Amino acid sequence: MSERDAEHQQWWRHAVTYEVYVRSFADADGDGVGDLPGLTARLPHLRDLGVDALWITPFYRSPQRDHGYDVADYTDVDPLFGTLDDADALVARAHELDLRVIVDLVPNHTSSEHPWFRAALEAGPGSPERARYLFREGRGADGSLPPNNWRSVFGGAAWTRVPDGQWYLHLFDSSQPDLNWRNPEVGDMFESVLRFWLDRGVDGFRIDVAHGLVKEEGLRDQVVPEGSEPGSAAPTGGSMIERTLRDEPMWDQPEVHEVYRRWRRVLDEYAGPRGDRILVAEAWTQTPESMARFVRPDEMHQAFNFSWLLAPWSAEAFAAVVTGTLEAVGPVGGSPTWVLSNHDVIRHPTRYGGGPRGLARARAATLTMLALPGSAYLYQGEELGLEEVDVAPEHRTDPSWFRTGEAGRDGCRVPLPWDGDAAPYGFGPGTGQPWLPQPAGWGPRSVAAQQADPGSTLAFYRAALAARRTFATTAGESVTDLRVEGAVLSFRRGPVTVVLNCGSEAVPLPPGEVLASSAPAGTVLSRDLPADCAVWLRDPAAR
Ligand code: NOJ
Repeated sequence: MSERDAEHQQWWRHAVTYEVYVRSFADADGDGVGDLPGLTARLPHLRDLGVDALWITPFYRSPQRDHGYDVADYTDVDPLFGTLDDADALVARAHELDLRVIVDLVPNHTSSEHPWFRAALEAGPGSPERARYLFREGRGADGSLPPNNWRSVFGGAAWTRVPDGQWYLHLFDSSQPDLNWRNPEVGDMFESVLRFWLDRGVDGFRIDVAHGLVKEEGLRDQVVPEGSEPGSAAPTGGSMIERTLRDEPMWDQPEVHEVYRRWRRVLDEYAGPRGDRILVAEAWTQTPESMARFVRPDEMHQAFNFSWLLAPWSAEAFAAVVTGTLEAVGPVGGSPTWVLSNHDVIRHPTRYGGGPRGLARARAATLTMLALPGSAYLYQGEELGLEEVDVAPEHRTDPSWFRTGEAGRDGCRVPLPWDGDAAPYGFGPGTGQPWLPQPAGWGPRSVAAQQADPGSTLAFYRAALAARRTFATTAGESVTDLRVEGAVLSFRRGPVTVVLNCGSEAVPLPPGEVLASSAPAGTVLSRDLPADCAVWLRDPAAR
């Protein structure tokens, strides 16, 4: 295979993929909730931005208790979002625009309204229907205590009791019962789901909770962090992400990799003129090494690497993430991935302190990330510099908010502003607020307003992605001369030197032509690199 053919085949190795949180992207029918026709109509925005692919959060039939991550039918579109024809039209239009489409697969759990779970409830203890899930007897003389001390990621006990006295496991909300992946029926069902969407032309799958499918045999107790009460409904043991990251009998079991070997064989059958169809793991693993196990040559193509997102604003921390990631992924031949925001975490300008400084840092971290080898994931609205919205408690919808009282994830999911000066800012044809209220004063953040402003964050993203296509994706797979001097990180990618100033003072700028910078438009970078700023420089010798 020529180098060009290989590049086309393995498009994912350097792709920039844009996450569409479907409820909040664009609403065509005016019900205040985003939908597939709305997304299709707005695809030119993604083409103009310069991304290669989009990943769409779940749009299958679902009671929406966790906004689609609770699936009642994996092979149909929820009427809230449209129809199967709308899904086909979306894929076709995306392909016309040279955008690949990755859909979200949720195999760890179904909705409690899935026909399998309803049948399990009806069939009773010991039935084959119950064996598709993790039903157990309770502890204590009358079985009134949960079978073990596991906590839900969303807070509280991970077990719910049904009227006949048995308990079922749900690592997330009680409306999301965990499947029993040791039962072959489950694997067979998901293979048919993969084929259903592959036959409709999708280019890949993002695999939800990829590290959680198989639980340790015996379901032993988890180690309870000191000071927290087993089985309590309190938000014990750190943030939601910390709870998912701990080494526990429900995460990262070796048998989970068998599942992905089987799926990889299926996807390989479908590789065609558009290149590989891919699997991307959402796996909140402990270490870069455990992340790399998901991307061994016969498993997934990619795994989200959350270490860039979790790193504090520090040159040393960023350098350690780059080194750790490349060292882990290199030996298995995988391509690294990088991400700063998604629908589960606080938007990165807010994480970096908010306001003008948070935005400056966010742009700098993004520009640095886009220079790294491998592929990058963007989350809708980051190209507009959106910050986390402080959603009033009465409007919050996140199940983790209901289970723990922690603010939850609604703040990064507020519908996008497209144009205008008042809600719904062109999100849909209606006049009122969409499903989560948009803040006042969002007009200047809208796509239309930023499109008209060469100094906008949208213009910065477009320029950065264009520079990436020209300079970074052709710079090979390695990072050289990685250095931390004081608060400054620098590294080389082929002929390009990347410098990120994490300090609070300007620093002297090395020589070279400025190819891209995160500084506000109009800033002339000649002798100094301001604080909270990143730049790509072409070595004078390489011109
Ligand atoms: C990860 C998804 O990103 C998140 O939104 C969801 O709540 C959980 N998995 C459970 O499916």
